[in-house]
Amino acid sequence: MVLQEHLTERNGSLFIEGVNSLELVREFGTPLFVTSSARVVSNYRRIHRAFSSKRTRFRIHYALKANSNLAVLRLLKREGASADCSSIPEIYFATFAGYRPEEILYSGNYNSDEELKFALESGVTINLDDGPLLNRLVRFGKPEIISFRINPGVGKGGFAGITTAGPAAKFGMREREAIAAYRTAAKLGIKRFGMHMMTGSNILDCNYFGMITGRLMKVASDVSRELGISFDFIDIGGGFGIPYGPSENELDITHTAELVVNAFEEALSSNSGIGNPELVIEPGRYIVGDSTVLLSSVTHVKRSYSTFVGCDAGMNVLLRPALYGAYHEVLIANAMTRRAKSRVNITGQICENTDIIARNRMLASARSGDILAILNAGAYGFSMGSRYNGRPLAAEVMIIGGRAELTREREGFAEMLSRQRVPPSLL
Ligand SMILES: Cc1ncc(COP(=O)(O)O)c(C=O)c1O
Repeated sequence: MVLQEHLTERNGSLFIEGVNSLELVREFGTPLFVTSSARVVSNYRRIHRAFSSKRTRFRIHYALKANSNLAVLRLLKREGASADCSSIPEIYFATFAGYRPEEILYSGNYNSDEELKFALESGVTINLDDGPLLNRLVRFGKPEIISFRINPGVGKGGFAGITTAGPAAKFGMREREAIAAYRTAAKLGIKRFGMHMMTGSNILDCNYFGMITGRLMKVASDVSRELGISFDFIDIGGGFGIPYGPSENELDITHTAELVVNAFEEALSSNSGIGNPELVIEPGRYIVGDSTVLLSSVTHVKRSYSTFVGCDAGMNVLLRPALYGAYHEVLIANAMTRRAKSRVNITGQICENTDIIARNRMLASARSGDILAILNAGAYGFSMGSRYNGRPLAAEVMIIGGRAELTREREGFAEMLSRQRVPPSLL
């Protein structure tokens, strides 16, 4: 297999941005997420260049849900990114990392009153998932600008679980509800508007992005014609995919941007009422997905009905394979040149039979003490991690200028108990 530019093999061992993965394991232990800052930056610059070279009124809101490690947030802030937050804690993380309120878009769903109030008071731009939420929001004050999430009736995703539009999706609103929502907003005296969609994740088909942008622009055009309002921004969401499996190809981001911008600007030229909105995208996976390797120790190999390679990174550390059947490439970091011999299942130490990292995978024969490198673990990796079976959250390291910096300490057992209280009657 061809390794990404930040991964190299030297004397049979895996190096990440020039740093020996085995030394990282010695210093920080496993399971360990290792992020290449160079790769995060090059991914960001590639997608930014692809779009900004075609439309200058363009902005990236990085989707924190993919990976909200503060070092990643700082790195992207330095690159000029804005932030896309899905929850109040994510607004807090982004603010802590230095993003100003006007650089933060908050797209919650099924929000509580407390969340709406917090978002309003923090001054971030609010994107509502349903029209009636506006009536609840304005009880706390009138926002300067409001955006609504559209469900354009179709979606697409790497798996059914990450398809976030279409009639079965819980997100967004239809055009008729959107018109009613913007009408209410205009009546309330709100003067500035955005429009948003997010129709699915890990999409590798350029044409889809052009098509779906056209759909959103039609809704924007209809809303603007009906109500005489223009838009400050139109946000087509994230969803830009990366190849995980050997049969998948890279998304042609230059062509994708071309198709999106063409559909966007065609709608602007046929209806000047929309105004001259900023084109916004919210990539998560595209920026961080392939930047991170998850290093894990092989703890035991069992040969029974089939072979199970057990390691210390199971579904508690990387949930995607168990949740969606997602594919992650796995290498033996200390024996990169050992030949793949037989098919094995790679599993963690969790007491669930869904605890799987790779099923029926060709792998070189692994032994206890080997180090597995699970690739493309940067998006929805740590951020979906759990403490199930009483296992602490993993540690994270970032390679910056050839140096490994610990960006998240491994959780301690005492920390895991620190919020619990034993009632005095049980002491
Ligand atoms: C509203 C919103 N924006 C952006 C994203 C990021 O998606 P991706 O990582 O596929 O780019 C998501 C992911 O679910 C999302 O829900």
